[in-house]
Amino acid sequence: MNILLIGSGGREHAIAAKIAASKKCSQLYIAPGNAGTTECGTNVNLKVDDFEGIGKFVVDNDVKMVVVGPEAPLVAGIADFFASKEQLRNIMVIGPRADGARLEGSKDFAKQFMQRHRIPTAAYKTFNKSTLKEGQKFLTTLKPPFVLKADGLAAGKGVLIIEKLKEAQKELKAMLEEEKFGAASSNVVIEEYLSGIELSVFVLTDGKHYKILPSAKDYKRIGEGDTGLNTGGMGSVSPVPFADKAFMQKVEQRIVAPTVKGLQKENINYKGFIFVGLMAVTGADGSLDPYVIEYNVRMGDPETESVFPRIKSDVVELFEAVWNGNLNTATLSIDERTAACVMLTAEGYPESYRKGDAINGLEKVKEGIIFHAGTKMNDKGKILTNGGRVLCVTSMADNLPAALLKSLQMAETIKWKGRYYRHDIGQDLLKRIIEN
Ligand code: AMP
Ligand code: GLY
Repeated sequence: MNILLIGSGGREHAIAAKIAASKKCSQLYIAPGNAGTTECGTNVNLKVDDFEGIGKFVVDNDVKMVVVGPEAPLVAGIADFFASKEQLRNIMVIGPRADGARLEGSKDFAKQFMQRHRIPTAAYKTFNKSTLKEGQKFLTTLKPPFVLKADGLAAGKGVLIIEKLKEAQKELKAMLEEEKFGAASSNVVIEEYLSGIELSVFVLTDGKHYKILPSAKDYKRIGEGDTGLNTGGMGSVSPVPFADKAFMQKVEQRIVAPTVKGLQKENINYKGFIFVGLMAVTGADGSLDPYVIEYNVRMGDPETESVFPRIKSDVVELFEAVWNGNLNTATLSIDERTAACVMLTAEGYPESYRKGDAINGLEKVKEGIIFHAGTKMNDKGKILTNGGRVLCVTSMADNLPAALLKSLQMAETIKWKGRYYRHDIGQDLLKRIIEN
């Protein structure tokens, strides 16, 4: 069948590679894609929010399945758009409708959902402009640091963690009264700070059954030792060594199963990925307990670049089972090896960065996988930087140090003016293994 993948990042390149490898895929289109996705299929010049254009393309090109990479079109209702049109109703859309996408689109909805279904998460309260004073008072009842979250989508920037009470109160005012994050911060969730170690777990669900994909950890800050400005993600590893069987059992029992059941109970027909951002907190008995920090309604980036290479099953078969509601009959088989991904970024990122630099050394990489993110090809076929996160390299090995070493060697081989990467991806996990 013909398949259309929506998106243009490293995540989409990693998903495209698996779709292209499926025996069920005849032609893969990627809208808009990047220079790397052309290795897997045909790029189509359509914007991810151009639902009319996407619908027309699907009809004209006999596309039977649409896989949605990023959250914005999901929150904006791309799946509902397809369901509402006679000609598009039967197209298999992998990604939730807008009602399910609220899990990511509204932090307040997500928190209320977790409360309704008794899913472990930080205690919280939500405030708006008219309750600013109450919000500032509520802050005085909490211990620092203070966690303020814009309710809506804020391109990953809507969470503030602040040490000083006065500053937190000032920021709350800026978010609510001055719309610091635009309409996204017209409601603000204030929540209890959880101290622990973060990781992500990914779930594929047909709305009733689910498969838990491998765990992963990403590295959000620009600087080594996880310092400096927040980024889209500077690297990832999968699996997360401390997310052992006992921990994953807690994740399934306390979080994944009640989440899928909760969606069903609330008549939310959810078909797609759920990305559960978790904090592993040390409990009274010394073991790790998972708490939900956030839900996303898509795969993570750059987590996908270490999770997807480990999927051995045919992903298109899994997606068909998602659409048909029989995911319980499908098999998910996972490569036991560890995958490590290192992101290479443009000079200046995550602030204003250089663009259009020639990327050299790609042909010298003989082992491992290169996933493109912000790249484009010029008229002469030369690949140029075209984004802050330019590309990432993923290696697989029997253990984490070996996978990391291979990826760092690959990263060093690929060069452009001002290219940057973190050398310490995964080091915190190795340290933890040694210490325990
Ligand atoms: P979010 O967009 O909700 O994932 O938040 C962004 C980042 O803020 C997370 O990746 C965490 O590092 C941090 N964070 C969010 N909520 C909390 C919390 N309740 N306690 C501690 N850290 C948090
Ligand atoms: N890596 C975090 C995200 O995709 O939101």
